[in-house]
Amino acid sequence: MDLPTPQLDEGEVLARIERFALTTNNMTYAVYGDALGYWNLFPAEQSGYGCMPAWGHAEIVESRASDIPVGTRIFGYFPIATHLTMRPTSVTSRSFVDGAEHRTGTPQVYNLYEFEPRESDPRLDSLTAIFRALFITSYTAADYLRDRDFFDAEQFVISSASSKTAYGTAYCLADSPAQKIALTSARNMEFVKGLGHYTAAHEYADLAAIDSTRRTVYVDLSGDGDLRRRVHEHFGDRLAFDCLIGSTQADGFPEDDATLVGPAPVFFFAALQLDAYKAEGQSRAFMQRYRHDERDFLERVGGTEQPSIKLLEHTGLEDAPTVIAGFHDGSTDPAVGHIFIPNAS
Ligand SMILES: NC(=O)c1ccc[n+]([C@@H]2O[C@H](COP(=O)([O-])OP(=O)(O)OC[C@H]3O[C@@H](n4cnc5c(N)ncnc54)[C@H](OP(=O)(O)O)[C@@H]3O)[C@@H](O)[C@H]2O)c1
Repeated sequence: MDLPTPQLDEGEVLARIERFALTTNNMTYAVYGDALGYWNLFPAEQSGYGCMPAWGHAEIVESRASDIPVGTRIFGYFPIATHLTMRPTSVTSRSFVDGAEHRTGTPQVYNLYEFEPRESDPRLDSLTAIFRALFITSYTAADYLRDRDFFDAEQFVISSASSKTAYGTAYCLADSPAQKIALTSARNMEFVKGLGHYTAAHEYADLAAIDSTRRTVYVDLSGDGDLRRRVHEHFGDRLAFDCLIGSTQADGFPEDDATLVGPAPVFFFAALQLDAYKAEGQSRAFMQRYRHDERDFLERVGGTEQPSIKLLEHTGLEDAPTVIAGFHDGSTDPAVGHIFIPNAS
């Protein structure tokens, strides 16, 4: 459907969305839309509806902001749409913040748009759209654990191990001598074994086979309450820390549970960690370190030698409901990376 181009007010720009990625993480933005404020970012016109956010690239095609010329290319958070009207503020040589009035209630990082020249290889743009928000989570979570001496873990047990955020975390924990044990579903076992980031892999039903005498940190991407209980009971007082990062198999935060054996889960929220780096004046140094290591990771998972992921490009938005339904019911093949090119030409 062709919609009329919006009339810009003074200070606004129109971004034409070039490509964005969808993964299970986008489902979580919807699930936590109220709790974590994601619905505020791109308000839907009809009440009772929300616009699911996605990460990707866009080009400024109209501008009434003197410091943002037409042709500027940006990376950031967009609705599943063809265009977005934005109000750039806090413009620096590297980025701007969308200062639109409704963009409140979430960590600042969601309102930040980095200037990003077009890669000569569009594949790298697609990999960035898929992995940037996920790998930055893996990376900051590993920093968080490293800053705490990995809780002296002898092993990390990582659930939803086939998820990109999970295997990115295993990759970022490579400097710890502790074993990286994957927990995954039967259908994704072969994929997980082939990744090369884990020391060993077990199906969820096989949890009891993991050595419970080793000091363990649980890195939880599934959010599954039954699994959490089984993990805590199995490792008992050898469970040093429960780091809750994701909820691929849950639709809310865990309730306080006094009957849970061992340490209560601690939610790790990458966006708050990034805001903290900014508040401490460390943003630039962090991003330099991060960008360098992200390149290496993208080469490892998406390069031409044994890539873990095959890119699947969808032109237009028509396939989005089917792809999202696959994330909802867990039927999506983790080896496929879904990229959307919303504007056909
Ligand atoms: N805390 C933070 O700051 C932060 C930031 C980014 C992402 N995350 C979270 O990290 C998690 C992973 O996101 P991702 O985009 O990396 O995932 P992904 O690559 O799309 O991986 C999805 C995996 O999750 C499991 N899964 C998904 N849907 C399922 C269902 N309906 N039933 C059963 N299993 C299902 C499957 O793994 P298995 O078969 O291996 O279980 C599947 O391979 C999400 O919950 C996301 O919100 C958190």
